[in-house]
Amino acid sequence: MSRNISIEIDGTRTEIPKGITVKRALELNGYKTSKYPEKDSIFTPCETGGCWSCAVQVDGELEPACVTTTKDGLTIKTSLPEDVTPRRIVSGFSGHPVGGVGTPWWLKMERRYIETAVFAAGCNFRCPQCQNWDITYQSSGKAYTPREAAVLMTAASKKYEVDRMAISGGESTLNRRWLVQYVRELKALNPDENARIHVDTNASILTEDYIDELVGAGMTDVGPDLKGCHLETFVRITGVEDRPLAERYQNTAWKAVKYLLQNYKEKVFTGVGIPYNKKLISLREVREMGEKLSEIDPEVQVCVLDYRPEFKRLTLIKPRYHEMIEVHKRLRGTGLKTVLCQTERGHVGPELQCDEGLPHPQPRK
Ligand code: FES
Repeated sequence: MSRNISIEIDGTRTEIPKGITVKRALELNGYKTSKYPEKDSIFTPCETGGCWSCAVQVDGELEPACVTTTKDGLTIKTSLPEDVTPRRIVSGFSGHPVGGVGTPWWLKMERRYIETAVFAAGCNFRCPQCQNWDITYQSSGKAYTPREAAVLMTAASKKYEVDRMAISGGESTLNRRWLVQYVRELKALNPDENARIHVDTNASILTEDYIDELVGAGMTDVGPDLKGCHLETFVRITGVEDRPLAERYQNTAWKAVKYLLQNYKEKVFTGVGIPYNKKLISLREVREMGEKLSEIDPEVQVCVLDYRPEFKRLTLIKPRYHEMIEVHKRLRGTGLKTVLCQTERGHVGPELQCDEGLPHPQPRK
């Protein structure tokens, strides 16, 4: 009995093994896929069905190629018409009293909801200590159009009486068409000049032209979350074991920070994230990161996150308060003026004051 099935790809009939995904069928038929956006290649950064960057038309419907199974007689179209609306799995749409690394520090010290946040499924990293793993690897939720998500976010911001609207994840930047359209829709629904549209990101694919496009669409705040300045550290924290790819991600993220601070300082609030847990990154490297950032702009807000046991790294020990105070001092010693640290007692601000007692749910990143 034949184990092959017959499908059609872009008008050409072909035989493929039974039971494989659309992505694999495309690869077997000479289509290129990649983990970094490339021309003439299908971008497949998460491969868990969350981001829909890899979406193609399957029997006329948009479906993520990485998790959709083929069946006999299927028709696949890889070049999507311009008017096809992108989709992505997002969830949340709720008030947030802490914010992310790109939330201005003075707001974090207020005892109220300061943002509404939505979380995008799918990530190109595989951080063993992922703090949002339940959202990141979600593959079965509703895939929203940008307009649908923007309408829900606008309603949430009214409900929580805040003018800041954040998208986090997962990795929010993976599906570029979706994100740019979402930011544009949000801006159109919230034309008030006080409305802030905040993108939390690992910045690993945030190229200069992508930043320009997001700012043009209406992004006002961004939180690039850097994962060290040495490749070894980056690989340890992110779980991206393909070294050339990891290096590319890391370089893109640092370049994105530089580009944002040098070109959009007045227009976009940028707050940079730095990880800390002594099992993952040394104090010396944290200081090096501080020196690099201080050279770019000593006034940039830097927020250090105390990495705790989570997901597959349950043996990590959450840094103690005094360790985070040491991190704070080291970073201030590099000339950085706006350093805050997330600690077991709440956030420590630039002047070493602590917000002990602030309602403290899971920070976004
Ligand atoms: S790569 Fe397929 S959904 Fe993200």
